[in-house]
Amino acid sequence: MFLNDNLKIFSGSSNVALAGAVCKYLGLPLGGAKIDKFPDGEKVIKLEDDVRGRDCFVVQSTCNPVDEHLVELLIYLDCLRRASAKRITAVIPYFGYARQDRKDEGRVPITAKLVANIITTAGADRVLAIDLHAHQLQGFFDIPLDHLMGELVLGNYFRDKKIDKLTVVSPDVGNMKIASRYASHLGGELAIVHKKRVSGERVEAKEIIGDVQGRNIVMCDDIIATAGTVCSAAKLIKQRGAEKIYVGATHGVLAGRALEQLGQAPIDEVVITDTVPLSEKARKLGCIKVLTVSAMLGEAIKRIHRDESVSSLFN
Ligand code: R5P
Repeated sequence: MFLNDNLKIFSGSSNVALAGAVCKYLGLPLGGAKIDKFPDGEKVIKLEDDVRGRDCFVVQSTCNPVDEHLVELLIYLDCLRRASAKRITAVIPYFGYARQDRKDEGRVPITAKLVANIITTAGADRVLAIDLHAHQLQGFFDIPLDHLMGELVLGNYFRDKKIDKLTVVSPDVGNMKIASRYASHLGGELAIVHKKRVSGERVEAKEIIGDVQGRNIVMCDDIIATAGTVCSAAKLIKQRGAEKIYVGATHGVLAGRALEQLGQAPIDEVVITDTVPLSEKARKLGCIKVLTVSAMLGEAIKRIHRDESVSSLFN
């Protein structure tokens, strides 16, 4: 693949394997940089490549430890800007803090907007993200943002499985649009679970709209955090007579009791992507399959660099 040396890709420390895979797709070496810590814990980044006048991309998921990865991204952006990069794109495969996107009670922050502001202030000219928690978060940035969908990778995986008697389930009402896109992509029927979130960790699946009896299920979501949402939905769906249950989610955040809950739930396979690196413990669980988004990201980076359409990737 021909790409001139104007294109530089750097990696933060959150997801070096993914950044490496993106570079492999593009046939480029990963940009040289040293990320270090001062004795008091402050981070320092030193670029080892010349970036003056170059089109630079920095890959960093703001996953756990969220604050550390976020600050590292900001320092990277500042570093590239001060080193005279021509254009800087923050490639954020998983965008943390996205779920606090509105004031649904008094005296709470809107962290998604705050984070969008500081990323822009630090020096990003563009953002490339995958499955933001809500599509309207694109509007929180006043710079161009390209929004990729994990559905391209996950949908193809489930399509290749050729699942018969398929019903695509949305585990909550908020995810309905994505689930209906999956249903048309995979050619299945659609069902929706009505969920009630009792607390950050506890979720109750209350009712199902649609038929799951005797059906094979693909349940799709943007994120599995504590896994309360998908596990409670899977239990209810199983009680109502579903056969196989597959879960597909872009971001495997897998926090709190997620692994324990997934291990006990009536789920045959959990399919996630590598926007967030999988822990050793999660790897051992056995029912989790990880697909890579590297080709999709690499292709989007190539198109941004060449000023070509990114949205046509999804046509
Ligand atoms: C909810 O709006 C999201 O789409 C996910 O369903 C939710 O964030 C998953 O969280 P958890 O795994 O903690 O239930």
